[in-house]
Amino acid sequence: MAVYFPRMSVPHPEVVSLLEKQLTHEFHAAQAYTALGYWCDVQHWSGYSQFFHKQAAEERTHAARILQHLADRDVVPQIGALAAPKKDYEDLEQCAQAAYDLERNNTRGIHEAYAVALKHGDFPAQVLLHWFISEQVEEEAWSDKLVAKTKRAACAGALLYLDRHLEKELSGTGGGGE
Ligand SMILES: [Fe+2]
Ligand SMILES: [Fe+2]
Repeated sequence: MAVYFPRMSVPHPEVVSLLEKQLTHEFHAAQAYTALGYWCDVQHWSGYSQFFHKQAAEERTHAARILQHLADRDVVPQIGALAAPKKDYEDLEQCAQAAYDLERNNTRGIHEAYAVALKHGDFPAQVLLHWFISEQVEEEAWSDKLVAKTKRAACAGALLYLDRHLEKELSGTGGGGE
């Protein structure tokens, strides 16, 4: 018979549920960025493609942070079902907008989870989420720039330049999506 030792740090079920929702969001973002990466690959926008694939890898590490946090607190995490990501895009502007929307959705989820961690006085979850809160400031900054710069690159030549130097163009306050 399995013996269960409850610990002080076991999170409230409401906190668990919001953290599980958020880690599922992070996996969804990873899938969505992977799809964006391949759309750009097929359209030969290799800078955008690389950038989105890099974001996909980062989103998986974000999910892993929350999974490990729950496991460390004796919770076997429930990973939610993932909806198929959008496959077809009109142009790079739509891709940039999709990234922008993904990031804003993610921020919303993180803030919701943080509010619940505060409500239940869950200090460990608050500390975990502090990292995510500041991460989202960076994510929103680069996705803002991505939309603005993609829109501004109205002619093919400007887009080619942006594609080649995307990481550099998005770095600065956004750190190029670190
Ligand atoms: Fe994330
Ligand atoms: Fe992100």
